[in-house]
Amino acid sequence: FPWDRLTGAGSQAVASSLATAEAAPIVPFAHAMPLPKNLKPTSFTATSDLYEIRMQEAQVEIVKGLMSKVRTYDGTFPGPTIRATQGREVVVRQINELQVNTAVHLHGAHVLSEHDGLPMDTIVPGGERTYRYPNNQPAASLWYHDHAHHLEAENVFMGLHGLYLLTDHNERTLPLPSGPYDVPLVIRDARVEADGTLLYTRPSDCPHMLVNGKERPYFQVAARKYRFRVYNACANRYVKLRFADGIEFTQIGTDGGFLETPVQQSELLMLGGERADIVVDFSRYKVGDSVVLENPGAQSIERPEVMRFDIVRTAPDYSFVPGRLTTYPPQPTPTVERDFEIRTFPAMTINGQSYDPNRVDITAKLGTTEVWTVRNVEAPAAPGKPDFHLWHSFHTHLTYFRVLERNGKPAGTRDLGLKDTVTLGPGDTVKIAMTWGPYTGQYLYHCHQLGHSSGGQMGRIDIVA
Ligand code: C2O
Ligand code: CU
Repeated sequence: FPWDRLTGAGSQAVASSLATAEAAPIVPFAHAMPLPKNLKPTSFTATSDLYEIRMQEAQVEIVKGLMSKVRTYDGTFPGPTIRATQGREVVVRQINELQVNTAVHLHGAHVLSEHDGLPMDTIVPGGERTYRYPNNQPAASLWYHDHAHHLEAENVFMGLHGLYLLTDHNERTLPLPSGPYDVPLVIRDARVEADGTLLYTRPSDCPHMLVNGKERPYFQVAARKYRFRVYNACANRYVKLRFADGIEFTQIGTDGGFLETPVQQSELLMLGGERADIVVDFSRYKVGDSVVLENPGAQSIERPEVMRFDIVRTAPDYSFVPGRLTTYPPQPTPTVERDFEIRTFPAMTINGQSYDPNRVDITAKLGTTEVWTVRNVEAPAAPGKPDFHLWHSFHTHLTYFRVLERNGKPAGTRDLGLKDTVTLGPGDTVKIAMTWGPYTGQYLYHCHQLGHSSGGQMGRIDIVA
């Protein structure tokens, strides 16, 4: 098991310790679900919004009645939400007041290499760095999180993740639920010890499931449609989300923004890094009803409940999901093919190699369209055994891809839209296509099970003119 076997710097990154003490007991639905606060710009120019974030430790209540020491952006857990608009630059001055190295990556964004938060471009304790985000891309639910070499898994687990919601003209013209009816659900697991300590350890020892930073909260809703931006922000865990009564909901977007046309779903299988934008219609319920969102893929000591929606009032609703949400530009014909094999054993590798920032694994030409065949070579776990470490979540920086095939069949509803992260269960093979750009420079592809990327399941891709 990788948490037990790795030695050296990598092992620290994968788990700071194995859980030995007692986890805090699970008391579902003890917290009202908070909304992450919106960060206010410190100043503006004609073209840019400027922000300042202090990365600092804070004490927060994750499990009712216990205080946990966490690593934060700006003192909140999760970090504050940045709201950006297409065509308007965002500049974030990040000041590291923590005791550890950090690097801030804006996941899903098209940014210059020097602003991408590469693993070696770290901000040392006491240091700072200013990141520039051009926002020359369509509306999408992005997030920013730590990416410091060997440390990203622990840093993200300890709290270094926040939302970045990019909007555009198209989104503003769509009649979707908006304002208070457009709500982020940042889902992640945790292990909080009985004394409140937040302990980074393997996912099968993480019994707590947080939404927007609170253990299994409840959320009071009106009997109408809501838009939810669902994030799997787990360091090392997949989730299978469904409503306990099996209701369908409408998926309108994924990692890279809107789907071209909405699709009905009753389950979301999401690995670390993935986003799903969904519309749920609570008008089917009566005031006084409740419905639980579950993760029936829960394993080991976890319970399936994720959160509970309480229908507490009626409200007018003029929103609806239109039949067409956006139109993608046509995909150019691929001219390059590459193969990737991802392994957990005997070490965390892609094509047999662990990440080395000084080794260029791939050189791709700006503007070239490529097809990548990505294989997860692990065999399924024995029945009843945790299998989180056998899943991979393949992620590319800089550009989005389309999933063409999964296991030899055309991509289904699970793989729609513009993706930057694709799930690979044990034995799965996917074919994905992407066009490299819009910038040249040094970028990454890696597994977004962050214990895996921290352990070396990551490669360097240089985009050249
Ligand atoms: Cu969300 Cu390279 O990561
Ligand atoms: Cu992996």
